[in-house]
Amino acid sequence: MDKETFEAVDRFVGETVAPDDEALLAAVESATAAGLPEIQVSPPQGKLLHLLARSIGSKRILEFGTLGGYSTIWLARALPPDGKLLSLEAKDAYAEVARTSIDRAGLGELVEVRLGPALETLGALEDEGVEPFDLVFIDADKVNTPNYFTWSLDHVRPGALIVADNVVRGGTLADEHSNDLSAEAQRQLHHLLADESRVEATTIQTVGSKGHDGFTLALVDG
Ligand code: SAH
Ligand code: DHB
Ligand code: MG
Repeated sequence: MDKETFEAVDRFVGETVAPDDEALLAAVESATAAGLPEIQVSPPQGKLLHLLARSIGSKRILEFGTLGGYSTIWLARALPPDGKLLSLEAKDAYAEVARTSIDRAGLGELVEVRLGPALETLGALEDEGVEPFDLVFIDADKVNTPNYFTWSLDHVRPGALIVADNVVRGGTLADEHSNDLSAEAQRQLHHLLADESRVEATTIQTVGSKGHDGFTLALVDG
């Protein structure tokens, strides 16, 4: 099997059960037009995030890495009318594109895109006494995934789900000899998860339009 097959399957799944509607298509088009990198989750992956958020009845979602708001829209659509999604983005121009797309999707009331390096924003949230989250999606700078995970673990409710994107990255996760810092961080995440008694976790490899990668899912003890 090859890349073409993986992409064809993603297209089929996208055309059948996980279609992009007008607002999602517009989000991708706006992001591309504004020169944002095309690194958003695929439609089947976006739908997976949506289903996960719905399946645990998420009312409060935290996202690391907004980009153009594509995954944000999938996730926010899982929220009830009184729900809230906070998405953290370092780049002003990206946050602006995302806010426009999120508003166009009719989700402006539910979503706040907070500008700044996430580690700094987390400090501010701490000072504000932020309420616990039900679901966290970690998808920003990969070297900080373990830091974002550790912070999240202390700021979620029992039974929460923490999901991290891009943990496999073409298999570098398992290559102990690679000195790639992003891959090293994903290995560190796994050791951390293995030693952490408050969560049960697994990592699922994915193929498709985004290449060979994977999600880590960690369920926090309820
Ligand atoms: N979740 C998006 C994709 C995010 S891509 C989707 O699937 O649709 C990663 C994003 O993280 C980029 O927009 C990048 O600007 C942002 N980012 C990188 N470093 C960051 C940091 N330190 N704090 C917050 N966001 C960061
Ligand atoms: C990159 C970031 C992502 O979140 C992703 O899904 C793919 C690539 C990147 O920074 O290159
Ligand atoms: Mg990603």
